[in-house]
Amino acid sequence: MTDPAPNPHASAEQVRAAFDDPKLANILYHDWEAGTYDEKWSISYDERCISYATDVFNAVAGEQGQPYPRAMELGSGTGFFLLNLMQGGVIKKGSVTDLSPGMVQVALRNAEKLGLDVDGRVADAERIPYEDDTFDLVVGHAVLHHIPDVPAALREVLRVLKPGGRFVFAGEPTKIGDFYARKLGQLTWWLTTNVTRLGPLRSWRRPQAELDSSSRAAALEAVVDLHTFDPSDLERKAISAGAIDVRAVTDEFSAALAGWPIRTFEAAVPPEKLTLRWRLFAYHLWLRLSAVDRKVLAKILPRELFYNVMITGIKPAAPTEL
Ligand SMILES: C[S@@+](CC[C@H](N)C(=O)[O-])C[C@H]1O[C@@H](n2cnc3c(N)ncnc32)[C@H](O)[C@@H]1O
Repeated sequence: MTDPAPNPHASAEQVRAAFDDPKLANILYHDWEAGTYDEKWSISYDERCISYATDVFNAVAGEQGQPYPRAMELGSGTGFFLLNLMQGGVIKKGSVTDLSPGMVQVALRNAEKLGLDVDGRVADAERIPYEDDTFDLVVGHAVLHHIPDVPAALREVLRVLKPGGRFVFAGEPTKIGDFYARKLGQLTWWLTTNVTRLGPLRSWRRPQAELDSSSRAAALEAVVDLHTFDPSDLERKAISAGAIDVRAVTDEFSAALAGWPIRTFEAAVPPEKLTLRWRLFAYHLWLRLSAVDRKVLAKILPRELFYNVMITGIKPAAPTEL
């Protein structure tokens, strides 16, 4: 069976239907976003993102068992997590999967450019099109919060893992983190778009046509995010799905408090105003604050306060026959 083709230009009728169908919304929204996604989120396949991906992975799963011979990513998008983990030596052979055909296409193109051993399929995380006991590792980044039935997806992950295999999901928003990130983002957007109406600051105003965005599918941004997570509740879901050695870890508190206003400001002003100096300042500030979060704040603040949650667990070994 061949994968469906990408549809980056949804019709008005399709977009209307997608408001009541979160999976269709995810396909249309992410097919529209696929071609510009890496640029929009500053995703790269160099040392910066390789060390980000491997640090996140190691923070929750440790380095034992690496390199995993065969891994699959759910909701891979353009391949940010899996391809950078492969380049970082965590994984040998990879499969990218995503509900959006456009994303699978871009991820496979990125893998080819990097010379990595990767195949891919269009796949819904609630019905993964692979045989039982196929993978040593299943990963995902910023995908669980888009899936309507998270427990069903976790059961599927455990089905396609080999006994003893591991899953790692990272980059999921916590309930409290999502609340303050949204509020800070809204406030920054309001301030930036209003202050830049004033005479001397007009040149900092992004043209309205760009702010309104050109695509119908862009309107679905509000529909694709379905969940935020409490770390303990997420652990319970993974255990109920059948996983053992389950552990949730959170990160980014001060980094998120600074990062969300910075990212929103950058989206609200013309890109040419953001000099290399500014970008380096923002990146190094984020790096420094992330280190403070990991080394200091993680020891004194409740884990629920942090913005990101990641979770790992293991598929139990098959029971031995008597
Ligand atoms: C926020 S993006 C993250 C992409 C990538 N993992 C990253 O971190 O850059 C979420 C991705 O999940 C995919 N997705 C949404 N619902 C899905 C589902 N039910 N099954 C598989 N993928 C899904 C979307 O198409 C999208 O590519």
